[in-house]
Amino acid sequence: TEDVITMAIESSCDETSVSILRNGRNVLTNIIASQILQHQKFGGVVPEVASRKHIENINQVIEDALREAGVTFDDITHIAVTYGPGLVGALLVGLSAAKAIAFARGIPLNGVNHIEGHIYANFIEHKDLEPPFIALIVSGGHTHLVYMKDYGEYEVIGRTRDDASGEAFDKVARALGLGYPGGPEIDRLAKIGNNKAITFPKALLEEGSYDFSFSGLKSAVLNYLNSQKMKGNEIHTADVAASFQQSVIEVLTEKTLACAKERGINTVVLAGGVAANSGLRELLGEECKKRGIQLKYPSLKLCTDNAAMIGCVGYYDYIKGLRSDMHLNAMPNLKI
Ligand code: KG4
Ligand code: ZN
Repeated sequence: TEDVITMAIESSCDETSVSILRNGRNVLTNIIASQILQHQKFGGVVPEVASRKHIENINQVIEDALREAGVTFDDITHIAVTYGPGLVGALLVGLSAAKAIAFARGIPLNGVNHIEGHIYANFIEHKDLEPPFIALIVSGGHTHLVYMKDYGEYEVIGRTRDDASGEAFDKVARALGLGYPGGPEIDRLAKIGNNKAITFPKALLEEGSYDFSFSGLKSAVLNYLNSQKMKGNEIHTADVAASFQQSVIEVLTEKTLACAKERGINTVVLAGGVAANSGLRELLGEECKKRGIQLKYPSLKLCTDNAAMIGCVGYYDYIKGLRSDMHLNAMPNLKI
């Protein structure tokens, strides 16, 4: 059988990324053009700026990917592209490019759900990983606890009812006067701070619930900072960062392990930008080890947004015979 060469495009938020893969898990190239510098001065992603930057970058990133992978358009079997969830204008840039290539070359198009992509980053990292497993997807836009039964088969067991976990990291970082994105900054400070300095609430919700809530915790941190300022007390930024992070990672760890136990599953995978958090990797790692559960997570580059993870999903859809048609539209609120 012949190799399947996938070209994948991701543009759902502030990274323009193009990857080329062989047979789904072998990444020939994964180019990520980040717009972080453009958004930093606004303290977050500005959708209009993101769309415009994607337009400026996309053709060059596609050309660079072909060159780096040492292939031409003639070698590409099919195109995989993120069509949701994400910023609609940003998604449309990648989707339009993907459709144009598929149409011009007469090759199949596979629309991919971005959240699925985050899970599949683990298949690229761990070549022999197979479903079933429990996946904790924690990113700037999503917080989901998912039971993945088989390729393309998911049961969402819990999700956030308000802010995503990464969003909470970014908002608290902003209140602490740290840069954007805030997650890596808090992670760095948490290593030198005391995580027991301040007791912030852990929102465990109703007994037995696998849903999450982070807005109460965020408000608790903001209230703490305001009250300290009113009292004229000095704020120990590293202690606040460490205590906040501790509340988040304890809730994530407790719910993930309870879910694995209930389902009788002994593999847990982490996915999404917050999966880069060293405190989460450590705590969940220790707790999994105690219970004989294997924990997998992607390398840092594959945790945050990238096209290789999208190509991996597209590949499995392609070999299953799934195809998207030219009417495929961007779906900003696409669910897993
Ligand atoms: O997956 P991602 O690149 O984009 C979305 O699909 O949302 O995730 C970005 C999020 C941001 O909120 C960022 O602050 C967070 O991931 N993040 C982290 C770390 N690295 C990135 N959060 C905590 N600790 C980190 N080390
Ligand atoms: Zn993402």
